[in-house]
Amino acid sequence: MRTQVAIVGAGPAGLLLAHLLARRGVESVVVENRSREYVQARIRAGVLEQGTVDTLVDAGLGANLAREGMRHDGIHLQWPGERHRIDFPSHCGRSVWVYGQTQVVRDLIAARLADGQQLHFEVSRTSLHDLETDRPCVRYVDAAGTPQVLECDVVVGADGFHGVSRPTVPAALQRTWQRDYPYAWLGILADVAPSTDELIYAWHPRGFAMHSMRSPTVSRLYLQVDPTERVADWSDDRIWSELALRMALDGWTLQDGPVTDKGITPMRSFVSSPMRHGRLFLVGDAAHIVPPTGAKGLNLAVADVRLLDLALGELFATGSEGLIDAYSDTALRRVWRTTHFSWWMTTMLHSSGDEFDEELRIAQLGYVTSSDAAAAGLAENYTGLPLGT
Ligand code: PHB
Repeated sequence: MRTQVAIVGAGPAGLLLAHLLARRGVESVVVENRSREYVQARIRAGVLEQGTVDTLVDAGLGANLAREGMRHDGIHLQWPGERHRIDFPSHCGRSVWVYGQTQVVRDLIAARLADGQQLHFEVSRTSLHDLETDRPCVRYVDAAGTPQVLECDVVVGADGFHGVSRPTVPAALQRTWQRDYPYAWLGILADVAPSTDELIYAWHPRGFAMHSMRSPTVSRLYLQVDPTERVADWSDDRIWSELALRMALDGWTLQDGPVTDKGITPMRSFVSSPMRHGRLFLVGDAAHIVPPTGAKGLNLAVADVRLLDLALGELFATGSEGLIDAYSDTALRRVWRTTHFSWWMTTMLHSSGDEFDEELRIAQLGYVTSSDAAAAGLAENYTGLPLGT
């Protein structure tokens, strides 16, 4: 088999890149080791930056987003006794959209299959070869058990933190940075109308709590827990009462409801550089991980994909390698800006038990919610800086 771009991984990054490339007439094949059902069911973050929404709409993927997405013009920041709103449009002229990554992936898979484009699920033993030549290839075993060789011009590693792509880059040519936080998030999805119009991020001495949503009838909520905690120790009642306690505010009630999904996610920052090795290009979680505070993971992956789409478009249209040569440095500038923002939100909002640090958090929350300059900084990062900054 031969194609122009072999894409490893059918998450939002790989699928969106395949879609954008197809629109400019560049052919690709996407291979994924999970099943379609698994990929479409996994619950991930739910906030899209304006630039992410614009990309999806411009690519003809906006129909369900326009119907089901919810535009949010601000967030609430809270600490005991106080809840303050940060307005986005007045500070930076942009908004965000609440629309689940699960929905984005569903839309992308539907579009890919409707266009009759190649997307292979449940492949195994995927490996990348000849990356330092201009004829690399991807080997894998397809769902029927048949070994395949996919020859191509470019390989894109969109297979996440645990994928095969990043480890294929020789360690001597790669530099990584990592920060493991002493926190994890216990997340639930619940069949209950959100008790808030906009997301609530709450600092509390017992730990961070957050209220998000997926639709007018589905809420998504999170609690900071110790990374060693087990889901089995958290009954629905225990979760709801802890959420109510940490987000308590006079005159406000948290409505509970049936929990339909429950899971614990560790929190980590990770960056790998460069994001290119020969004809292999890394996008999204394959190259970097941010902690979920601020919902940047998907948006960062989309920013990588927008840059790589332009770069590969130029390569295939003109043979020029200017943009593919610049890809890694350009992408990494945004990655580090976003890594800082996610680290900052995480540090400000989680509780460590250190009395000095807790006072700093309250001071910082007071400043961000009372200074226009500080609020503008949060607003422009939260809604997403322009591509290339
Ligand atoms: C979510 O809805 O899953 C979500 C929203 C905002 C965050 C993180 C997660 O900062």
